[in-house]
Amino acid sequence: MLKARGPLHTLKEYHPPLGNREGLRLDFNENTAGCSPRVLERLRQLDGTTVARYPEREKGEQVVAAHLRVAPEELLLTNGTDEAIHLVCQAYLEPGDDALIVVPTFAMFEIYAAATGARVVSIPAGPHFEFPTQAVLSLLTNGSDKNVRATRVRLIAVANPNNPTGTFVPVQDLARIAKAAPDAAILVDEAYFEFCGESMMPKWRECPNLFVTRTFSKAYGLAGLRIGVLTGHKEQMHMLRRASSPYNLNSVALECLPAALADKSYVREYVNQAIVGRRELEADLAARGIRHWPSRANFVLFYLGDNCKTFVHEMRARGILVRDRSSDYGCKGCARVTVGRDEHNQRLIEVMREVFAELGIGEQVAR
Ligand SMILES: Cc1ncc(COP(=O)(O)O)c(C=O)c1O
Repeated sequence: MLKARGPLHTLKEYHPPLGNREGLRLDFNENTAGCSPRVLERLRQLDGTTVARYPEREKGEQVVAAHLRVAPEELLLTNGTDEAIHLVCQAYLEPGDDALIVVPTFAMFEIYAAATGARVVSIPAGPHFEFPTQAVLSLLTNGSDKNVRATRVRLIAVANPNNPTGTFVPVQDLARIAKAAPDAAILVDEAYFEFCGESMMPKWRECPNLFVTRTFSKAYGLAGLRIGVLTGHKEQMHMLRRASSPYNLNSVALECLPAALADKSYVREYVNQAIVGRRELEADLAARGIRHWPSRANFVLFYLGDNCKTFVHEMRARGILVRDRSSDYGCKGCARVTVGRDEHNQRLIEVMREVFAELGIGEQVAR
């Protein structure tokens, strides 16, 4: 057997629930309505030549640049945000470097950073899962943690809004961090931007070490096509383009993307429904006295303690998949539930009430 590089032996394994996901899938923050009908229409029009030819990324990049109101040289279309994170880690991290993440957060930051041989330094979020801006800044400026030298920090990755907590870091805080760490790539993952509305884009013109990613997997419902975008200062993007395969995206995704972007009302309505559902869910949890974290994304995290596993199991038995996040840092006993289209939100809330009643969760407060 070949021996894989050292860092791969100690990598954390990411185990998404990929099999046996029958039912209403509210466990993965996917779009519950599917993609726009215009995308389906476009798919039906595709013929054999689209599939036979190597994909041409350039046209799609112009469309996305116009959509984001940035220059085409300031972006790179990627095979989902996952590839964007991977590319940034590959481009800037070496063995001996430090990569900072604030936990809990999206698992792929740690996996891709550690795979390069860099050391991943995890800083815990505050007691309400708030982003510890001050702690990050003091670590960068004073090196207050004797094990972390500011000069070795080459990557700081932040999901904003964060997954699994739904919390949001003010963009000014991230800009301060970017300025305090000019030798580090600051990767801001805005996978849930559409449900939140605030962005760092195009702050890289002030902070050239900043990268912002977006995905078409969530609000646009294209997770299966795998398409996202990495944006940043054009000189940095030039380097990243060198490291990327010219054929990193499939031609079907590229053909469908313009149709998805053109159907603005479809995305707007979907996002509105998800936000209304999020508010209703949060109000229901509050009325029951269930601890939860106000979310800026298309999901809500809440604490059920010892009842968490049974709750997830009972929801599944009633045809709704939700996610036990107990293995994430600071999330023991927490479940995460995706919101989406009205009818799915209504079904979710009804079934949750039934399960809460059966398990006696939040009863005293609700009465
Ligand atoms: C914060 C965050 N970033 C990225 C992704 C994955 O995005 P993509 O499908 O574009 O790879 C997810 C998916 O759950 C996520 O939560």
